[in-house]
Amino acid sequence: MKEKMKSKFEELFGDYGDIRVYFAPGRVNLIGEHTDYNGGHVFPCALTMGTYAVARKRNDNKLRLYSMNFEKLGILESSIEDLKYKKEEKWINYPKSMIWALKSEEYNVDKGFDILYYGNIPNGAGLSSSASIEVLTGFVLKDLFNLDIDMVKLALLGQKAENQYVGVNCGIMDQFIIANGKKDCAIFLDTANLEFEYAPVKLKNEKIVIMNTNKKRGLGDSKYNERRAECEKALEELQQELNIKTLGELSEEEFEKNKHLIKDKNRKKRAKHAVYENQRTIKAVKALQENKIDLLGKLMIESHNSLRDDYEVTGKELDTLVEESLKQDGVVGARMTGAGFGGCAVSIVKNDKVEKFIENVGKAYKEKIGYNADFYVVEIGDGPRII
Ligand code: GLA
Repeated sequence: MKEKMKSKFEELFGDYGDIRVYFAPGRVNLIGEHTDYNGGHVFPCALTMGTYAVARKRNDNKLRLYSMNFEKLGILESSIEDLKYKKEEKWINYPKSMIWALKSEEYNVDKGFDILYYGNIPNGAGLSSSASIEVLTGFVLKDLFNLDIDMVKLALLGQKAENQYVGVNCGIMDQFIIANGKKDCAIFLDTANLEFEYAPVKLKNEKIVIMNTNKKRGLGDSKYNERRAECEKALEELQQELNIKTLGELSEEEFEKNKHLIKDKNRKKRAKHAVYENQRTIKAVKALQENKIDLLGKLMIESHNSLRDDYEVTGKELDTLVEESLKQDGVVGARMTGAGFGGCAVSIVKNDKVEKFIENVGKAYKEKIGYNADFYVVEIGDGPRII
């Protein structure tokens, strides 16, 4: 891939001399969904799938961007002085959002650059292809412009880019795991204070299988921002009597004792999910550390049920994948992952049953939904790097 990208870069932008190839991963969240904007915990890991870039600094202010995933669009030109969001510019808004975020905090990006991207994360599948481009672009710029910026700050700038430039009110999970991923580890992150620890995912007898509904979605047009607003309102209602800053501070018992303060039925369900899911995540990490894989699987199933019934972000495609998964021999657990409303589900399956699992779930999905699902048996990889 590296050589192919370099020669494409040369073909498009001229003789490259000494250029570098960069990589940033995609991510899958094992458990802890819709908790990251509620001051709760998440437990994602970086994938070996991701986004690659070849880049070179220019002597003027021009930006020339090209994606091998959208070759028909050709080279798209812009400038570091014209970083306004333009809906029609599609994917270019993601790299631009990151330049904008860096410049908004006075990082010295004072020249343009040529950049070529290629990604092998399925687009719009909920494995964070957009956060991967954002963090990758930040990482490239850190290198090209010698910016003094650490990976946590880079993640925060990625989130700022997404919130204030792209207009999705996402939490910190995606950018954080992509910036800080580590091979064969998931990150146990407390989104209330960004404290985190790496937890080895030592699955000797199982594989992580990601199942793509192939139902396209974008966070921008989903109910994501609506769910976030519902949680904020529920928190305000609880704060009438409780001295808390986030829903993540509550135990299940405290929630049950105080839920009458939330006046709307749906808001009560949303808040319940946020509280219980956070506690489930803490339990799941402990289960993994104690090698209780079955318990981890059980918590994943509970997570899905809560996202389906209380948070209401699954839909028939994700529910079908999970339901069919749970009928299979050798499945330990399965749940939707990411924002929901389409995108992907994740399952843990015994090594020797993976093939049959994929065949059976794939067949049942096609019968019920009418089109194919895709399956990826994934490995947990490292964060951004020069390759
Ligand atoms: C998206 C957002 C994350 C997180 C998940 C749901 O991936 O980008 O911040 O909220 O949805 O857990």
